[in-house]
Amino acid sequence: MKVALVLSVIALGCSALVTKQERRFPDDFLFGTATASYQIEGGWNADDKGENIWDHMTHNHPNVIKDGSNGDVAADTYHNYKRDVEMMRELGLDAYRFSLSWSRILPDGLSNPVSAAGIAFYNNYIDEMLKYGITPMVTLYHWDLPQKLQDLGGFANPLFPDWFEEYARVVYDNFGDRVKHWITFNEPREICLEGYGSTTKAPILNATGIGSYLCAKYLVLAHAKAYHLYNNEYKSSQGGECGITISVNWFGPLTDTEEDRFAAEIRRQAEWGLYAEPIFSEQGGFPKEFTERVAQKSAEQGYRSSRLPEFTEEEKQFVRGASDFFGVNHYTAYLISATEHITQNVVPSLYDDVGVGVYVPEEWPQSASSWLTESPDSILNVLNHLNQKYNNPKFYITENGWSSPPSSGLIDDDRIRYYRAALENCLDAIDAGVRLQGYMAWSLMDNFEWMEGLTERFGLYHVDFEDPLRPRTARKSAFVYKEIIKTRVIDHSYEPATMTMTIDEGR
Ligand code: NOJ
Repeated sequence: MKVALVLSVIALGCSALVTKQERRFPDDFLFGTATASYQIEGGWNADDKGENIWDHMTHNHPNVIKDGSNGDVAADTYHNYKRDVEMMRELGLDAYRFSLSWSRILPDGLSNPVSAAGIAFYNNYIDEMLKYGITPMVTLYHWDLPQKLQDLGGFANPLFPDWFEEYARVVYDNFGDRVKHWITFNEPREICLEGYGSTTKAPILNATGIGSYLCAKYLVLAHAKAYHLYNNEYKSSQGGECGITISVNWFGPLTDTEEDRFAAEIRRQAEWGLYAEPIFSEQGGFPKEFTERVAQKSAEQGYRSSRLPEFTEEEKQFVRGASDFFGVNHYTAYLISATEHITQNVVPSLYDDVGVGVYVPEEWPQSASSWLTESPDSILNVLNHLNQKYNNPKFYITENGWSSPPSSGLIDDDRIRYYRAALENCLDAIDAGVRLQGYMAWSLMDNFEWMEGLTERFGLYHVDFEDPLRPRTARKSAFVYKEIIKTRVIDHSYEPATMTMTIDEGR
């Protein structure tokens, strides 16, 4: 233990000096990449697929997308899925995380009708992966709600958990014989805060300070329903695991004062504690201090009850502990102040409820995404924090990645630097006793980056969106990631000998 500690200290200061044997990912660590249905699939109306909220929004309000693009074709995985799997084999991936399009499986959202074509597409995708020993990690919901359910209120409808359970049953019935890693929801914060409490994701409801909190409650209950369904009716025969993925960026104090430390804590509670605390904390329910703050603000603002709904005792017990692992999507960090950098926010809104200032140091390298800088040790901070707070759960990094502009080409040294630093942090976390069992790089290939359209590229593979065939070409980072997966070691001096990708034997 002591030796490991000394080595990791050396590695932190001077990773280039550490030899291969000293810092190694375990053989059973799952290295993968991640994608999401709407961002890659295309085939938006193929066969009997139903409309989802992104189809609806991009078709009816194309101006909300930066470049006016949409996911109608995207990377056309619907027709290129074999090439996707070929790329996974080229990289030597252990696992691949992707999501199912609810309205491709259930065109109307409820379990009648079930689309035979939708089921067949995912069967083919999964079987193609399994043929080459690639473990599928499947997200049930990555933001593309069937429009028909949105018309009924979507996540703000108290029946939402029942709808989600119904969908989950169809999914487990059809794919659970082969899929052993389930993720119910991807990034509740983005679904609820951005989709319901803002205009930065579909369905652009902008119900600030109200819709976002309703969504949080019913999303968490829906997760628990799908978890218990799996646990009670499928787990013993199918033998898999079921968890949730939450976006956990790091929010640290700007200065080491009690005020700033508390400001950072409140911001963390509002950003991801709303979803993590009910599931992973011992006491259950929404985070304490943030709950008190919203209740107080609501009263001052003249509401008869808090805008943040409560869980009943029964609901709290139902949700508490309902996850086999904590999926972390991590990208960046922010410094939080109680008194500095405070901006005016809409009233009521989550950010007004939080009422703290945010600062990002200029020296942190900037990606093509305004919100994404490379911040020192942010994965390590997040994993250590969650590990301590929630008593050493099993973790996967289910997303982590770096964006570049469309013109940036195939030589992506900034992405390589980012990935290497992030993976060093993962090793640090493992050394510190965090049960981190896998890492999914975002993303396998360039894709439709939501409101930013095609203007920000996250891919290890470049995709040519001008070409109807959507050819994919490996970037330099793909070769570097491949080498890390193969050797289980981060060699900071590794340079690919060629830019020609091949499949190694055994794949
Ligand atoms: C997290 C989301 O899950 C994914 O859909 C998105 O593309 C990446 N972040 C990058 O913004």
